[in-house]
Amino acid sequence: MVGAMQSIVIMISGRGSNMEALLTAKLPARIAAVISNRPDVKGLALAAARGISTAVVDHTAYASRIAFDAALMDEADRHAPDLVVLAGFMRVLGDDFVRHFEGRLMNIHPSLLPLFPGLHTHRRALEAGMKIHGCTVHFVTTRLDNGPIVIQAAVPVLDSDTEETLAARVLVQEHKIYPQAVRWFLAGKLYVTADGRVRIHAEERATDALVAPPATNAVSRAGS
Ligand code: GRF
Repeated sequence: MVGAMQSIVIMISGRGSNMEALLTAKLPARIAAVISNRPDVKGLALAAARGISTAVVDHTAYASRIAFDAALMDEADRHAPDLVVLAGFMRVLGDDFVRHFEGRLMNIHPSLLPLFPGLHTHRRALEAGMKIHGCTVHFVTTRLDNGPIVIQAAVPVLDSDTEETLAARVLVQEHKIYPQAVRWFLAGKLYVTADGRVRIHAEERATDALVAPPATNAVSRAGS
């Protein structure tokens, strides 16, 4: 598959501003589809207006989360995605779904993880008296909002902030870091260590300068 363009499926639940940032970023990949778990959301209309294939897998139509996840997996798999990007996708995904796409499933979360997993992150950051706040792109694992961190951005929290003003300041950063994370992924620059940390290779994976253990030189010097 050398030279084949990679394909991305984006999953949304609402207004789709992160999705739009990804579409605008002109990523070197094909956006194969945008899937929403809610019908009639703004993000679907935005995607359709750009000629992107859209689908709805309405969670309310399924009797169980397992059945919903299976339908979602089938819909995503139809596009054989190299990467599945959760962009404001507001359903918790089951372990089977996550395992199926593990390593090629990314999410953006509006806090500096591991602080404030879950909902209402901006309100909770204000209530905690945080002086900085931000957003995180991470690989998704079966532990909610807890996967390996790819990139984060921080913003100041101002005395005058409300939940809305703080959310807006963070959102500007979300729209910058998500395309960056996806670019790194597409270029094969992301590597997750055994202890769950993401390393970003300065060069392509094949470059050995970054993976050579520091001891190598010492050993060869000693032997020479
Ligand atoms: C973003 O703040 C994202 O971090 C969170 O949900 C929000 C979605 O916004 N997961 P949008 O739909 O991308 O505009």
